[in-house]
Amino acid sequence: MHIDKIKINNFKNYISSEVKFSNKINFLFGKNGSGKTNLLDAIYYLSYGKSAINNFDSDNVLAKESFFRIEGDYSNNNSYTCTFEQPNVKKIFENNEKYLKVKDHLGKIPLVFITPYDINLIRNYSSERRKFFDQLFSQIDKNYLNNLIAYNRLLKQRNTYIKSISNLDDIDNNYLKVYDEKLIQLNNSIHSFRESELEKFNESFNHVSNELNNSKNNFNVYYSSNFNKEMNCDIYEKYLEKDFYTKKTNIGIHNDDYSFMMNNKLIKRIGSQGQQKTFIISLKLSEFYLLKKKLLITPILLLDDIFHKLDDTKINTFVKYILGNNFSQIFISDSLEDRLHKMKKIIHPIKIFNIDKGIINEE
Ligand SMILES: Nc1ncnc2c1ncn2[C@@H]1O[C@H](COP(=O)(O)OP(=O)(O)OP(=O)(O)O)[C@@H](O)[C@H]1O
Ligand SMILES: [Mg+2]
Repeated sequence: MHIDKIKINNFKNYISSEVKFSNKINFLFGKNGSGKTNLLDAIYYLSYGKSAINNFDSDNVLAKESFFRIEGDYSNNNSYTCTFEQPNVKKIFENNEKYLKVKDHLGKIPLVFITPYDINLIRNYSSERRKFFDQLFSQIDKNYLNNLIAYNRLLKQRNTYIKSISNLDDIDNNYLKVYDEKLIQLNNSIHSFRESELEKFNESFNHVSNELNNSKNNFNVYYSSNFNKEMNCDIYEKYLEKDFYTKKTNIGIHNDDYSFMMNNKLIKRIGSQGQQKTFIISLKLSEFYLLKKKLLITPILLLDDIFHKLDDTKINTFVKYILGNNFSQIFISDSLEDRLHKMKKIIHPIKIFNIDKGIINEE
């Protein structure tokens, strides 16, 4: 899959831009703050119906404007449009036909975005890692997405009920049991899906990471959960007192974590910046392969500032890898002139875009 053309209005620092891309490698070159990441984020937005960087759409609207609009023409002969109007009206269209739900769009334009912000996957709390795997698994299995939505809704209702009770003895066990029975079922299916998909993910992850770090370090992702398949509703009864005092549900897949390991230790603790970056790149490329395998479409690959913090050997290994494998359309952003000259020499064909203060010029 590739994007042939994008039209952007009032998105971040872009007032009005229209660009035709190469279906191979596109290189976005510009100074810090010129709009490279913003352009990649606009392409990401068309795939996911949201920004990869800002949680609030009002932050994506060009300052002092009231709306933004992004339109993309794709190689499947479809055009997709995302619009947002302040304060909170988002719409997504496929060939001018509006989707009823944003989730119906998910998986139509598979795309993997590697950004400097990804380091948060290693540094931040487990919720960040769950979000990464949930987004990936939701694209490859609609049933997983529906289970997850149902689980989160029930969990919220259960927690609201627990919070509303001021005396432990006032809890209506029969009322809670209705939630608990459904939650156990959903825990079971989400847990088994995560467990089995992660096993497959790790096979590809080990392969990619070995190639990218010349088998020097052993990278792995471990799945851990305080839920297990032997549990039934009794577990909620056992934890009821704790749930009451902590005002939340303590057992369940909403607490799961995916631990990022290097040589059987947390990479967060022992990995250098370059090693952590290689870990993230391997993780994202495994996301790429899993999407490609399950959706039977080659995803678009966005590489934002990917070479920063990598030494020349690692950069060469990575570029060789990119050129030697079957990727489809790739976008690379960089702010270093030396690197631009180097990439021009080793990557063919390459289409270069110079970006300056939200204006895109093709070289
Ligand atoms: N809603 C908005 N309205 C106007 N300008 C915005 C908005 N959001 C972000 N910007 C501007 O966009 C610019 C940042 O663009 P971007 O992150 O794409 O830069 P970049 O080219 O990737 O830079 P770097 O090389 O530092 O990563 C900043 O100048 C920022 O002020
Ligand atoms: Mg940037």
